[in-house]
Amino acid sequence: MRVPLIVGNWKMHTTIGEARQLVNEMRLGLDKIEGVEKVICPPFVSLAVVKELIKGSSIKLGAQNLYFAEKGAYTGEVSPLMLADLCEFVIIGHSERRQYFGETDSIVNNKLRAAFKVGLKTILCVGERLEENEAGKTKEVVTGQLKSSLAGLDYPQDLVLAYEPIWAIGTGRAATGSKANETVSLIRQQFAESYGKENAREVRILYGGSVTTDNIVEFVEQSEIDGALVGGASLRTDQFVGIVKQTSEIK
Ligand code: PGA
Repeated sequence: MRVPLIVGNWKMHTTIGEARQLVNEMRLGLDKIEGVEKVICPPFVSLAVVKELIKGSSIKLGAQNLYFAEKGAYTGEVSPLMLADLCEFVIIGHSERRQYFGETDSIVNNKLRAAFKVGLKTILCVGERLEENEAGKTKEVVTGQLKSSLAGLDYPQDLVLAYEPIWAIGTGRAATGSKANETVSLIRQQFAESYGKENAREVRILYGGSVTTDNIVEFVEQSEIDGALVGGASLRTDQFVGIVKQTSEIK
């Protein structure tokens, strides 16, 4: 049984004050909903404050990135050890990290390794660009990213995968439920090749890219999709709570 999961990726939004306000607004509504795991990923600087605010609630905390070294002279970076004290989850390999900060599959691989070592649950993102999608290369790209990101890693128990077509992120142009399901199913097959069918049946795979209360049902009603990674809509209480609620009614 795969427990449905909705993750809110706040990206580089909210000051500490705004983060506090947003969590206070969402907390009650989210706590009323059962049967869905809920994770919010605020910016690094707000993690400690949010951690306090969600004590005793059903909301779990995640970070949006990490650096793979344990500690050292890496000005400006945040290590897995620092995060392990603060949160349960971490997003790795988001397309914005790949696009703007030069993250390659090999860096992603190092980050996954480092996260697992300290017991962080990871949300590994894969997804194709528009040109790749239009050229019919979606399968090749996403399975390739998955293979290289996981290369040499033992079965990662605490891994969640997220399929996020890059052309759908922040554009208001989401994939269709059936197309997303097709690709998620290919990702599951690829995972089975690396870690066996049993494990592939258990790994949760999310869809991400312009998810809102208007389209969440289309995704979570699909057999292979276990929830969503939500960006823009996770910054609005009515949207995020609505997405979690609708998921709980379907799954
Ligand atoms: P979006 O972002 O929901 O704003 O499209 C999704 C993501 O980047 O995870």
